[in-house]
Amino acid sequence: ERRAIGRAHSKLILMGEHAVVYGEPAIAVPFDAVHIEAEIQHLEGPVLFISDFFQGELEKMPKRMQGFVACIKAVCETLNQPIAHFRVQLKSTIPIGRGLGSSAAIAVALVKGLYSYFQKPLNRLQLQDFVDLAETFAHGNPSGIDREAITANHPIWFERQKPVETIRIEKTLHIVVADTGRVGDTHAAVSSVKALYSSNQDQTKATIEQLGQLTHQSRFALTSGRYDRLGLMLDQAHTLLQRLGVSDPGLDHYVQVSKEAGALGAKLTGSGRGGCMIALAPSLEKALKIERELEAIGAENTWYCQLTNEVIDY
Ligand code: PMV
Repeated sequence: ERRAIGRAHSKLILMGEHAVVYGEPAIAVPFDAVHIEAEIQHLEGPVLFISDFFQGELEKMPKRMQGFVACIKAVCETLNQPIAHFRVQLKSTIPIGRGLGSSAAIAVALVKGLYSYFQKPLNRLQLQDFVDLAETFAHGNPSGIDREAITANHPIWFERQKPVETIRIEKTLHIVVADTGRVGDTHAAVSSVKALYSSNQDQTKATIEQLGQLTHQSRFALTSGRYDRLGLMLDQAHTLLQRLGVSDPGLDHYVQVSKEAGALGAKLTGSGRGGCMIALAPSLEKALKIERELEAIGAENTWYCQLTNEVIDY
């Protein structure tokens, strides 16, 4: 029986979310504690799509998932294959709408799975074009950082319209990720920053530039192993993101609790207003303590991420 699987990990933005939309740099890292598999299997008839969020014929997928439909159709058309006679099944541990790049990861797994099913070689640029297609439906004007971070297996330096650079970290980073369990709407958060930019241009521009400077300093802290300083930078970034209006009392509370539990620094990650938070821990032991404390205040999920220069290649 014909069958193939495509896989993708998720991502964390360490620094620079939102500012990256305005041309500032950002740093993202692969996060493989949560991941996704798209299984493509032969099945006569119209394309069937099975996932936690939708089960049924491709043509009946709700509007907010049209990016994935467009992506599947574009792959079939590119490969001269009929858009029929297969079944797509997604198995994912990536929570949706929490700033972990679930939509880009779904697109990557789908495209990889389909190429493997049709036994065709796929290069990185082709893959990224398909992911862009799906992401444009989801976000409107995505910076492209999710696409790059999901298809990389190492920390990256990302700036719009520039080639991505690899960051080599000096030593292992201990990161705790906590999910508030609340869905953050990336589109709405990006639009609200845009509105703030129009109504209060000077101050918003200054905040965005400060975030950019922090991202530059963070790169140096990462490559030179100065993680105490990196922690302070995470704290500062969180304050600046609050100023942009993309944090919320829940995220602020998680940040505070992480710090009290021994984090070197903590901030929201991704588009904010719900979603996830990251905390930098000085050791594995402290990371586990931070996780426990965050679970005690109601985090829906926490993960420990031991970041080195390479993760599993999906
Ligand atoms: O998809 P999220 O929630 O990780 O957010 C992406 C990061 C933003 O900077 C907020 C938006 C973008 O397109 O870069």
